Amino acid sequence: MASDPFHLFDEWFAEARASEPNDPEAMALATCGGAGQPSVRMVLLKGHGPDGFVFYTNQRSRKGEDLAQDPHAALLFHWKSLRRQVRIEGAVTLVSGEEADAYFASRSRDSQLGAWASDQSRPLASRAEFEKRYDEMKAKFEGGDVPRPPHWGGFSVAPETIEFWTDRAHRLHERRLFTRDGDRWSEGLLYP
Ligand SMILES: Cc1cc2nc3c(=O)[nH]c(=O)nc-3n(C[C@H](O)[C@H](O)[C@H](O)COP(=O)(O)O)c2cc1C
Repeated sequence: MASDPFHLFDEWFAEARASEPNDPEAMALATCGGAGQPSVRMVLLKGHGPDGFVFYTNQRSRKGEDLAQDPHAALLFHWKSLRRQVRIEGAVTLVSGEEADAYFASRSRDSQLGAWASDQSRPLASRAEFEKRYDEMKAKFEGGDVPRPPHWGGFSVAPETIEFWTDRAHRLHERRLFTRDGDRWSEGLLYP
């Protein structure tokens, strides 16, 4: 069976956008640093296609450091109202500076300033310190554009496998596993 998982992903994603109460683009991102300790957190999907599934973050965060040490990741969407999940695994690369600049420029000014104020994954003494840094950044960039911080960028997960899971009666769930072989994709069915 040869198929195109991206068409199916687009269909499911469109249904999730119509049915989920919030954040249909939220996905769990699992990484594993050099010490072999897995870690997982939610991020938002900001672009997708055969070349990769893209999210943006602070590269100095734990996930950023994990990916610098081991550039592989797993993604998981769970669209509860549809009783569906999609699992994606693959190698990770940084998106180009131009692409990251374009996305950063499309964000609200508040989010842009937040990216400068946040030292993601590093403890701050207090919430007040965080807010003070935000105010400092606001003053610093007053009257001009807010540039993308050098430590803030996008990561792209190039899919090697994509598994679509659908809830079925009597727990006889359906799992369609797509596997990349060069430019082609092959499909197999898994049984729960
Ligand atoms: C629904 C949801 C979406 C999120 N989206 C992002 C995101 O796109 N980028 C990001 O850096 N953090 C996002 N976060 C915050 C992360 O889950 C996480 O707390 C933060 O990035 C630090 O993770 P780390 O210390 O493992 O690197 C999101 C959280 C939630 C609950």
